[in-house]
Parts: sequence; structure tokens; C-alpha cells
Amino acid sequence: KRISIIGVPMDLGQRRRGVDMGPSAIRYAGVVERLEKIGYEVHDRGDIEIGRPDKFDVVDEGNLKDLNEVVKANQALSDTITKSIGDGEFPLILGGDHSIAIGTLAGVANKSDNLGVIWYDAHGDLNTGDTSPSGNIHGMPLAVSLGIGHPSLTEIGSYAPKIKPENLVLVGARSLDEGERELIREKGIKVFTMHEIDRMGMTKVMEEAIAHVSKNTDSVHLSLDLDALDPHDAPGVGTPVIGGTSYRETHLAMEMLAERNIITSAEFVEVNPILDDKNQTAEAAVGLIGSLFGEKLL
Ligand code: ARG
Ligand code: MN
Ligand code: MN
Ligand code: MN
Repeated sequence: KRISIIGVPMDLGQRRRGVDMGPSAIRYAGVVERLEKIGYEVHDRGDIEIGRPDKFDVVDEGNLKDLNEVVKANQALSDTITKSIGDGEFPLILGGDHSIAIGTLAGVANKSDNLGVIWYDAHGDLNTGDTSPSGNIHGMPLAVSLGIGHPSLTEIGSYAPKIKPENLVLVGARSLDEGERELIREKGIKVFTMHEIDRMGMTKVMEEAIAHVSKNTDSVHLSLDLDALDPHDAPGVGTPVIGGTSYRETHLAMEMLAERNIITSAEFVEVNPILDDKNQTAEAAVGLIGSLFGEKLL
């Protein structure tokens, strides 16, 4: 199967500059070569164009910063992904801040009858303009994909919702806002917080997570926010939270996904080379991508 790489140099979903260089940093860390070495054919589709707001920190409406530019880029991303899947490719999206998951899921869910999602992240990204403490859209993509939020976001791809709460699982959560907690309870969303990872171990957590998302689904998307990893292993992220998963645990999670062969699309987001230490976070992302695609030592 051919893998198509789609870069999304998006930094308008949050306030820290530099995350727009994430796709370059991941390419520079050798993602294409790594995948080719495993034996894949790789089609690099280049980067999605991101508009520039007239002013910095524009709150367009409803506590949604740079809404218009975020909507435009996500619509373009959704179209590119739909095309890529139509061409028989596995879409691998490189971010960019996590607001791009809105377009990713719009494109991916368009080609699926019942999509499962693994959201591997320190955060829930389940805010709306009403519950968000920051107005940053990168804290909202999962709510948007469930059909909750501003219509110009939920209607990207011209349909909503993209996913059902019962087909979703969160792994690695350790920072949730009050509105996000309420939504998790209300929708009965399955969450493996850091507490469960400590308690059960990553093996058991991933076994249960995989069982949960593959129960009634025909495809499964992995959305991996590098801030799920502990800042010690992934310092180059805009919203680090201490007490995260190790590189090794995450690596194991990727290997288990490769073994079960359930993932049909993936994105690696929030790599910010300006905040990083010698491209360590992009290199971690490439190591994880290698494992996700079945790389083996022996
Ligand atoms: N919950 C916070 C907010 O809504 C932080 C979100 C961080 N999201 C991320 N994709 N890194 O602003
Ligand atoms: Mn704007
Ligand atoms: Mn996060
Ligand atoms: Mn996130």
C-alpha cells in the first residue's frame, strides 16, 4: 500500500509561533526514508496552504481565534485527504497544531461508514468556544468532529458529525477543562488517563483501546499529539504537561497497533521545532511512525 504524506503547517489554532515548521522538522528527521526502508512506496503531496490573518490574535466570533483561516485550511485538507484515499493511499498527516484534525477527520470519515478514532493526547481537545479557556481552536477538534461547536467548523466537508462518541477512545489524558469533563460524562466517552496507564500498564490499556475502537467500525484513525509524551521525551510542543507517557510506552502502543493492523489513517501533530531540543521531538515522531508502520529491529 502506498502512503501519502500531507504536511499542514498550521499555527493559527494556538498562540505559540513555530509549530508551522512541524512538517519540515518531521521531513528533515527522515520520515520518507524511514518508510521507504520498511518497504512502502511514499507519495509526498507537499503542504496545505495556510492563510494569514490580517491581524495577530483575531477573535473572529464566539471565542474562536483565527476562525476563518482555520476553516479554509481544514476544508482544503479534507479535500486532499478524500482524494488521497480515493487514489488508494494511506494518508499520513504531519502537523501543525491539532486544529488540523478537524479537516483530517472530515476527509477520512467521508470515506468510511463508521470511523473509529484513537486520540493519543495529554488533552481532550473537547472544548467549544463556550467552554474554552483560551479561544484556541487546537483545543476543540474532537468536539467539532462529534458535531459540537461552531457550524463553520462542524460543517467542514458539508456533513456532520464525523464520528460517534462510542467509536472514540482517549489515551494519555492528564489535562481536561471543566466543560470537557462534562462532555466526556454526558457522551460516555472511553478515556484511559495517565492513571489507568500507570495502573494497568500500556499493554492492557492498548488491548482494551483497540478492542473498543474496532468493535463496530470499518476503519480507525490515529490522532497522535506529541504532547501525550512526557516533556522529557518530547520537549518541542506548545502545551507541555508533566507526567506523560514515555517514548518507550508510546513506541509499544504503536507496535501493538501495527500488529493488529487496524489503523487506516494517522496524524502526528504539535511538533514545534522552535521549542525543541535539536529536533528531538520530530525524531521521536519519526521513530513512532516507523513502529506504527511495522518497523522491526530483527
Ligand atoms: N485545553 C486547553 C485549551 O483548550 C489546551 C488545549 C491543548 N490542545 C492541544 N492540541 N495541544 O486551550
Ligand atoms: Mn480571521
Ligand atoms: Mn495535547
Ligand atoms: Mn491535542
